[in-house]
Amino acid sequence: MSRIARDSFSSKFGVIAAAAGSAIGLGNIWKFPYITGVHGGAAFLFVYLGFILAIGLPIMLSELVIGRKSRRNSFGSFKKLVPKGLWKYVGVLGLGAAFFILSFYGVVAGWSVRYIFFAFTDAFKGSSAEITDFFNAFKTHPEKPLLYQLIFMLATGSVVVLGVNKGIEKVSKVLMPVLLILILILDVRAITLDGASEGLSFLFKPDFSKLSFEAILEALGHAFFSLSLGMGTLITYGSYINKKNDLVKTAIQVTVADTVVALLAGIAIIPAVFAFGLEPSAGPGLIFETLPNVFQTMAGGTFFSILFFLLLSIAALTSAISILEVVVAYFTEELKVKRKVATILATLLTTLLGVICSLSLGIYSDVTIFGKNFFELLEFISSNILLPLGGMLIALFIGWGLGKYKVFKEIAQGGKLDGRFLAIFMFLVKFLAPIAIFIVFLYGLGVFK
Ligand code: PFF
Repeated sequence: MSRIARDSFSSKFGVIAAAAGSAIGLGNIWKFPYITGVHGGAAFLFVYLGFILAIGLPIMLSELVIGRKSRRNSFGSFKKLVPKGLWKYVGVLGLGAAFFILSFYGVVAGWSVRYIFFAFTDAFKGSSAEITDFFNAFKTHPEKPLLYQLIFMLATGSVVVLGVNKGIEKVSKVLMPVLLILILILDVRAITLDGASEGLSFLFKPDFSKLSFEAILEALGHAFFSLSLGMGTLITYGSYINKKNDLVKTAIQVTVADTVVALLAGIAIIPAVFAFGLEPSAGPGLIFETLPNVFQTMAGGTFFSILFFLLLSIAALTSAISILEVVVAYFTEELKVKRKVATILATLLTTLLGVICSLSLGIYSDVTIFGKNFFELLEFISSNILLPLGGMLIALFIGWGLGKYKVFKEIAQGGKLDGRFLAIFMFLVKFLAPIAIFIVFLYGLGVFK
């Protein structure tokens, strides 16, 4: 029986660029710098790095093993590896998370695209209050943000429709080096500003008094989101990786790249905020309200603000591509539709859900469920419930479900087997990761509040 060869990544650099492209996103640029600063700088960093190493890295390796061994999408992979039982429903959870995350991610990414053009015309100049009003007026407008969300989602879909090798890999190989160059330029600008050192010490000076239990749990949750774990993104990408690739090395390289870029983003943003006598604010406010204040006073501000929003949009694009691919791979393999149809369908559905997210910040902001608008609700369900739950189940699957020899055999393909490494890895996925995630999960649900 002839079978069409499955699309796949063609080079090691392509694998790293695509997977790091997924990991490096809005999470690294707006969330990481802020949470590191407020939770005690280096003290928080220390805990975050511990989680990245002890939980993030093993789960990333687990996802790559599941994907490459099964050569299937996130749902089909569990079904193929262990056809009986409930494991395959882990993939369903992931699919739900993909829909939810992409819908609100597309909205924020759309703002970022719009701000590239605002930056060109210096549209967000004014007093601090005017800049905030400007952002609020834009994000709550019924149509304006939708247009840019649509542009962003169309860009995402047009890469995914081209396939893994000719679309995702090719684009990531170009965009990731561009992203690195942009962030380095912004870093040099930030640390050469007068008064930058205060920001650097906000970021890096260890303050253990700020390291609350909440901060520790936040570090774990963020490790998940930032590394794109828990919803089968790296199962899907893993399924396109060649048997000659070393999965352990790949997981380490992607983890290091994600962490380094988060640090570089912190260095690009926080010192600049302090240099102009401002306080870093939380979440989108930092990027769309505080930074425009910085740019309007900075020498060469227009130029640097264009670069910044370009950087943010590129980071968001390669992440969104990976999320859309989770859905498209499922549609093509499980529902047997062509990639083109699958991409159109997946883009359409996530964009429509995103439209509701966007409107829920403006004209429908009074419609709330459990005190949250639709945007906040989807963010909460995906980041605080679906990702940790998915991550925990993936760790348990590798630790208890698949069988140790199958796991080792897959790791050995293209890589070396090191007894001590494997023993530690199995301990982490069997016990430490699931237990730690379970605690975060309860925290995310507000059990400790
Ligand atoms: N890792 C991305 C970020 O830090 O912005 C977000 C993300 C992408 C989460 C892909 C989950 C995912 F599957």
